[in-house]
Amino acid sequence: MKKASMISIGAYVPKEILTNSDLEKMVDTNDEWIAQRTGIKTRHIAKNESTSDLGYQASKIAIKRAGLKNEDIDCIICATISPDHLCMPSTACKISNLLGIKNITAFDISAACTGFIYLLELAKSLIESGVKKNILIIGTEKLSSIVNWKDRTTCILFGDGAGAAVISARDDNSILDVHTASDGEYADLLTTPGCGSIHPATHEMVDQNLQFIHMKGNEVFKVAVNTLTKDVIDILEKNEISPKEIDLFIPHQANLRIINSVKQKLKLTDEQCIVTVQKYGNTSSASIPMAINDAYESGRLKKGDLMLLDAFGGGFTWGSALLKFGGI
Ligand code: ACO
Repeated sequence: MKKASMISIGAYVPKEILTNSDLEKMVDTNDEWIAQRTGIKTRHIAKNESTSDLGYQASKIAIKRAGLKNEDIDCIICATISPDHLCMPSTACKISNLLGIKNITAFDISAACTGFIYLLELAKSLIESGVKKNILIIGTEKLSSIVNWKDRTTCILFGDGAGAAVISARDDNSILDVHTASDGEYADLLTTPGCGSIHPATHEMVDQNLQFIHMKGNEVFKVAVNTLTKDVIDILEKNEISPKEIDLFIPHQANLRIINSVKQKLKLTDEQCIVTVQKYGNTSSASIPMAINDAYESGRLKKGDLMLLDAFGGGFTWGSALLKFGGI
């Protein structure tokens, strides 16, 4: 039986950079607070590009690096919480059209910052069951479009960007294991309350800013640290892999303090950890593939390297993955 392997990675960020000092002019905040509490210094902001435009640019790179033609892709799955359109068409369909690929399965999933881990589980299942051969998975976000730029507790955190990977049927360097989970009890701690069936689009809804991200950051933080630590320990124990054997730990990039807490628990070294939150902020579903791409482009990720991924986000959702990189 063929195994599912990540054979390439690609990413894209829009050109415009928003610094902490820029934010000081917009809300009551300062560089020191943002850097100390989150690790973030800059984030990229899309002006004239949509979520699908960002995803398309990342996808082109991933397909090229995979050595495939666009028509070799037989499925596109996109994870996003800031889709081009609320209901339809899906952002995956828009990206498929931009790539000129017709007649294949294309759909979106919604798992917030855990989106890329959910994509890996889906792609692994579809490939190893023989249903698909070359799946393009994309995490793409224009979070600047759902952020309240007057709310200092959220607007300093998020950025725009996209990451994409091709998952193909191969004999080696496979996705070894993926664990995904959720708990809807915490739904209200991290939510965009408006524009859906509960609060459809009305002037009143917009007046209350319900269309934007609302987060009880401190409460989310506590659950995130505890859940992620347990989740990565569980997946390592289940697969009888020690933290020392991990070549690269590539966590969701939400907050440097969360990353460092998991890193310390596992006694991982700086060389084992990929950190990009300082330059991109939190790009939700795009953050892990963007960080994998950073490791790849800087020469830190090589074929056969063992990666440990973890993520936590709205829902709540969380998950982790162990995989060997199958790219060149
Ligand atoms: N600048 C200055 N002060 C601020 C700012 C700001 N931008 N934002 C809040 N403060 C103030 C608060 O008002 C509060 O003041 P008070 O003590 O006088 O009331 C104080 O700073 C502390 O606020 P906290 O919210 O307790 O700060 P905390 O240390 O928890 O940091 C943060 C906030 C960065 C949001 C953190 O809680 C966090 O990272 N949470 C987790 C985020 C996360 O992982 N989310 C999941 C993924 S996202 C997704 O799925 C889309």
